[in-house]
Amino acid sequence: MLEILKRIKEEEIPKFLFTEGSETNWESLNIDYAHPHVHRLYKDLEFSRGRNEKDGKGPSKYRVYLHKLFPVPPFTKPLFHPHPWKSAIEIMEGKYKMGIGHSDDGYKTPEEDAILILTPGSSYDMSNEKGWHYVYPLDNKPVYSIMVTGEQFPNPITNEVWESISEGLKPLTYGQKVEMISKFQDFYKF
Ligand SMILES: [Fe+2]
Repeated sequence: MLEILKRIKEEEIPKFLFTEGSETNWESLNIDYAHPHVHRLYKDLEFSRGRNEKDGKGPSKYRVYLHKLFPVPPFTKPLFHPHPWKSAIEIMEGKYKMGIGHSDDGYKTPEEDAILILTPGSSYDMSNEKGWHYVYPLDNKPVYSIMVTGEQFPNPITNEVWESISEGLKPLTYGQKVEMISKFQDFYKF
């Protein structure tokens, strides 16, 4: 997934950041049911697999996300969670602490196996369906990141509480979308 992330970051995202009215090219979500709160812009992409598509699976499908993660209030735990799909993430601005763990039965919140501090340019791949993580923005500043997801795991860990809450999430306001687009445009200006 890291190669896909690099390709999408370099070749695809700029197409959807620098076109007129780009704030309307993206779907959005204001994710505020757990910490860190996240402003999310996202978009589905498809890449032809050429002759390999004859296997009936069609083109490769990915979803790209632009994230703004907000600092976590004092004495609040960030959400430890698995991902239902293979994913890769790169930090664009800010710094976060990340705890990672591995849940053998897939459902029980795991112990932390490692804690890392990640800074701009750091990237990581989460391609094991039993892998969990949490992130915790540092220095009381937001963290901006790009995430790309691919195919869903065969038996993704589902959590009915999270799912029912996430169905009620609202999109970003127009102003919040414009702020996100403007911020991510800056990462592509030299
Ligand atoms: Fe995550």
